[in-house]
Amino acid sequence: MSLKDIEGIGPKTLEKLKELGITSVEHLAEFTVEELVAVGVEYERAVKILSEAAQRVGSTKPKTAIQFRQERYKVFKTGLARFDEKTPWGGIREAFIYEFAGEFGTGKSMFAHQLAVASLASGFTARVVYIDTEGTFNDKLAEAIAKRFDADPEKILQSIFVYQPANVAQLEQIVKFEVPKHIQEGCRVLVIDTITALYRAEFVGREMLATRQQRIHYLVDWLRRHARTFNLVSILTNQVMDMPTGMAGMKTPVGGNVLAHAVNARFMMMRYNKAKPEGYMWPLDVPGMAPDVRIEYRITEAGLE
Ligand SMILES: Nc1ncnc2c1ncn2[C@@H]1O[C@H](COP(=O)(O)OP(=O)(O)O)[C@@H](O)[C@H]1O
Ligand SMILES: [Mg+2]
Repeated sequence: MSLKDIEGIGPKTLEKLKELGITSVEHLAEFTVEELVAVGVEYERAVKILSEAAQRVGSTKPKTAIQFRQERYKVFKTGLARFDEKTPWGGIREAFIYEFAGEFGTGKSMFAHQLAVASLASGFTARVVYIDTEGTFNDKLAEAIAKRFDADPEKILQSIFVYQPANVAQLEQIVKFEVPKHIQEGCRVLVIDTITALYRAEFVGREMLATRQQRIHYLVDWLRRHARTFNLVSILTNQVMDMPTGMAGMKTPVGGNVLAHAVNARFMMMRYNKAKPEGYMWPLDVPGMAPDVRIEYRITEAGLE
């Protein structure tokens, strides 16, 4: 199915879409009318080609509740045995947005590396896009984890595509236009470590808060579109802040309600004592998981165990 087959896409519109970086009907179907109008497609035409694209990719077809129940999701094991035992899907499942929040040094980046490698080593995905907003991507760590999973480190490192955007506009560009190119090559896992760092740096102060929230919302909405259209898994790490009200020492993930509602499974990570290489995570909001479950982990040079 190619863009040319869509009624209403003539040579001029095709050129415009290609310039924009839209390469497939599935990718086109993810856009909104307003987004196409913003790049110069006439309103009527945008409505027409999007409705046609939606039909072609089947997004206007219903599923029965029985079909829902019978749906089997692809899953990969994380290698953190307790996580794989205690989470409802027995690992990380497709088409979900995961969030791992915690203070610095709790092991978020380590776990992000581990999930990237584990998903490749198990054959769950052919590629991983790793968006590193804090400059902490570590190829040596990825290599050590690959060895732990008995995978060829060279092959694993070649399949992780690292982006280091400098600002929110670059991040949005990568998610909207670069990620779909990797998806075409078999990418089903996207990591963003951390999701909120660029927003906190760029939108500073109370008067910027509404804009910040809007832009975070916009980005996670794109992750949702990719999840729906391509079953993409997104692994987000997140920073925490002191709870505005409540007990001293209580932390909450940043990003507010917008992020809380957008992710499908949200975990908190914690280390009592940084002198010991251990910590635990628990579900803040995970469907089918009791909030009092503890997933303990040990920090090793090859990830969390
Ligand atoms: N081999 C190791 N053994 C024990 N602790 C380690 C090892 N390597 C790194 N660490 C520690 O693990 C923690 C996890 O770091 P990281 O994943 O970068 O945290 P975050 O991304 O949450 O800030 C750090 O405190 C680091 O000092
Ligand atoms: Mg980190």
